[in-house]
Amino acid sequence: MDRRSFLKKILVAGIFTGSMSSYPFLIESNMILKSEISVKIGGIKDHITIVHITDLHLKGYGLREKAAVKQINGIKKDLIAITGDFIENREGIKYLKMFLSELENNIPKYAVLGNWDHWSGSLKELTQTLEDYNIKILSNKNVKEKVGSNEFYIVGVDDPYTGHSNIQNAIVGIEKEKPTILLAHSPQIIDSAVSNNISILLAGHTHGGQVNIPLIGAPFVPLPEPYKKFCSGPYKVENTIMYVNRGIGT
Ligand SMILES: [Fe+2]
Repeated sequence: MDRRSFLKKILVAGIFTGSMSSYPFLIESNMILKSEISVKIGGIKDHITIVHITDLHLKGYGLREKAAVKQINGIKKDLIAITGDFIENREGIKYLKMFLSELENNIPKYAVLGNWDHWSGSLKELTQTLEDYNIKILSNKNVKEKVGSNEFYIVGVDDPYTGHSNIQNAIVGIEKEKPTILLAHSPQIIDSAVSNNISILLAGHTHGGQVNIPLIGAPFVPLPEPYKKFCSGPYKVENTIMYVNRGIGT
């Protein structure tokens, strides 16, 4: 992950809500930040840029959402990956339509579902809305993508946190020598990602631990115990690079 040697790498631009202060209880912010990770993986011949967004939890279409759209649209990218928790209830659908109607249109967009999407009671309406805005939902399946001379797979699992993920179904038909980018709502899929030789895993769900208290760390990470350490940022586990995005919503 050396940012200086840039060629023949995959750049992941993670867009998330942040704060200049990590002081407890002041983390709520409309500031939209970008984190760039440059990953060198085998089989990539040209540079690829992926914008990764997650955890919109849309309860409105306000300053934060507009700033996020502006940030995303301002990045020169090859595709957009969205890793779930779009909404929390039916009301979120109308804000999702507002958000998606402002997003740059002619870029391939892939998404997976999160726990709140399942709990929203509006899963059918949500998936229809995503399809209406040309977002391909990868629920335990994959698609072969081509960017320049690169061929790779975008793999998606349905939400691991609520037990809907099935990585074996998701990887059916993949050519082993091609790079794989796995989208999953929760980082707890990491062991399966590693054992199935996934190149890059993009996840969300943790919100960076909600509130980071200096010297104590993140007090609430909604993950099973062995995975709580994967709270935010990039990780390397054996040959798999994982990026856990803190997300846009709260
Ligand atoms: Fe979640």
